[in-house]
Amino acid sequence: MSECVKNRREARLPKQARYAVLLSHNFYSRGESFLSTVAAPQRFTALVISPLHIMDKNTLIAVLMGGPGSERKVSLASGAAVVNALQEMGYRAEAVDVEGPDFTLPEGTGLCFNVIHGTFGEDGTLQALLEKKGMPYTGAGVNSSRVAFDKNLAKDKFLAAEVPTPAAEIVDVTNGVRLPKMPVPFVVKPPREGSSVGVHIVLKEEDAMKAMEDAARYGNDILVEQYIAGKELTVGVLDGEALPIVHIAPRSGFYDMSNKYPWMSGGDGSDYYCPADLDEETTRAVQRAAVAAHKALGIEVYSRVDVLLDAQNRPYVLEANTIPGMTETSLLPKAAAAKGIPFGDLCLRIADISVKLRS
Ligand SMILES: Nc1ncnc2c1ncn2[C@@H]1O[C@H](COP(=O)(O)OP(=O)(O)O)[C@@H](O)[C@H]1O
Ligand SMILES: [Mg+2]
Repeated sequence: MSECVKNRREARLPKQARYAVLLSHNFYSRGESFLSTVAAPQRFTALVISPLHIMDKNTLIAVLMGGPGSERKVSLASGAAVVNALQEMGYRAEAVDVEGPDFTLPEGTGLCFNVIHGTFGEDGTLQALLEKKGMPYTGAGVNSSRVAFDKNLAKDKFLAAEVPTPAAEIVDVTNGVRLPKMPVPFVVKPPREGSSVGVHIVLKEEDAMKAMEDAARYGNDILVEQYIAGKELTVGVLDGEALPIVHIAPRSGFYDMSNKYPWMSGGDGSDYYCPADLDEETTRAVQRAAVAAHKALGIEVYSRVDVLLDAQNRPYVLEANTIPGMTETSLLPKAAAAKGIPFGDLCLRIADISVKLRS
């Protein structure tokens, strides 16, 4: 016996119903939300049935990868994985190695899937170029990309929206490098780099000046943040909802370049746990903080938010990455997989949401 219930919100299910089959476009992420809107959710199993994707199989997807920045190698790996996954699902995808603003898209491109990490691809520059061309693209838009990429601008947004984040000070070194007012321990960061480039954890006063001098090589507005000792977490946010949390445990030191990409630098690497082994309350607090950060920056489609968790289980948002790594073993895909979203589906889902937003 079955009955059709056509509700958008607060579905009222028949009293004797035992199973709810949810047909929804947002089939992956909304199942749990849907159940939370019905009375006595424990009575129901959400069997969520996939609708057709919006993406047309004839649309040519140009996967933009590489870029001129320091994360070029990682981006090429992300790009190759995305092209492969889309093609395996029967979509037309083509790799485009973008080295700078002068790039040519293949004839007939209908969507640009951007996986250019860091400078140019992640900071709003490429997004602005694509908008000028009238070309739909995946991920965050011009403004949200620019703000999310600049840790100083993002810090202001976090503070204004009361997103938990480490206390900070911006040190202007235009007239010479100087120390922050904040006492050690602190973390020194050039605000517009990624992959831990120029990031220094300063535990002892005597190391402070060297760290400031190094960060000053990248620009005059250095971000100095209160040091948070604790667990390193990262949370994927897809279409406004948090994915399962990834816990990153670097095998030595902190989560720097060598522990992020040991295959590139020969470092010790890190161990990853997803879902992170945290109690329910902490999990919810961390996910809430991640979604709040994503929203405070106005990010469209998806992001991956880096969070530190202190010994009292308080989350602190560090940053939101708008072009996170997209190899099959990258953190966002790991988080999606833990929610039952295979890599190919994740790519398609990102394309779908972006197309819906931009065409
Ligand atoms: N306030 C902080 N306290 C402790 N560790 C930090 C802090 N800020 C950054 N780190 C460490 O440095 C890494 C990189 O910092 P993050 O702000 O995420 O910049 P990015 O990843 O863009 O280089 C973090 O993953 C973390 O290991
Ligand atoms: Mg980070």
